[in-house]
Amino acid sequence: MIPGPGRFITLEGGEGAGKSTQAALLADTLCARGIPVLRTREPGGAPGAEILRNLLLTGGTDWAPGAEVLLHFAARAEHVAKTIRPALEAGMWVVCDRFYDSTLAYQGFGQGADTAYITALIGLVGLVPDLTLLLDVPDVVGADRLRGRGGASDRYERLDGAFHARVNAGFRAIAAAEPGRCVVISADQAIPLVHQEIMAAVGVRLAE
Ligand SMILES: Nc1ncnc2c1ncn2[C@@H]1O[C@H](COP(=O)(O)OP(=O)(O)OP(=O)(O)O)[C@@H](O)[C@H]1O
Ligand SMILES: [Mg+2]
Repeated sequence: MIPGPGRFITLEGGEGAGKSTQAALLADTLCARGIPVLRTREPGGAPGAEILRNLLLTGGTDWAPGAEVLLHFAARAEHVAKTIRPALEAGMWVVCDRFYDSTLAYQGFGQGADTAYITALIGLVGLVPDLTLLLDVPDVVGADRLRGRGGASDRYERLDGAFHARVNAGFRAIAAAEPGRCVVISADQAIPLVHQEIMAAVGVRLAE
């Protein structure tokens, strides 16, 4: 049987915006419709990339911004080669919790790495999402949700409010610059309503 065309959907947004919650709901709804789905996340999503995730989120060091960018892209290269591309080639819909926009928002807008350098690396990945859902919440809402979720915070979560405000502004700028790929979802509403808005965007942009 010839597989149907795979689709690549990414979820982006700042800390606590609800990406992981909505990625799971999206994958479940697509599965219930009989669509073969692979849910994955970054950094990580392949064994070699998970090793780099662990370093990036817990590593007891601070890299130069350009070095940290390359670590994220090394993890991404592994993830694309070992997980995402094979799934797309098999006709699956890949739902990915964070992708290259997170590197531009966190390392570029947030940490001050050269955005032209990141954009050049994005070009080298050679894979553009069919649809990017930007989950947008006011800065304070994401921080409150993380406090509610509890658990240990990672290297990025520990950075201050000004950093997270730059990240959120960065995501909004990315979405505004690429309206053909990105849809901004108001994520400051109840979980089922955010899911409804996501399914509407998927229906409009990725009709089967
Ligand atoms: N729409 C919502 N309204 C209220 N609470 C929510 C909503 N969406 C998610 N939450 C809760 O907020 C917390 C953060 O959600 P989630 O882990 O999905 O966010 P995230 O964007 O994946 O965060 P991170 O950037 O840390 O990975 C969780 O406790 C989740 O249950
Ligand atoms: Mg998450």
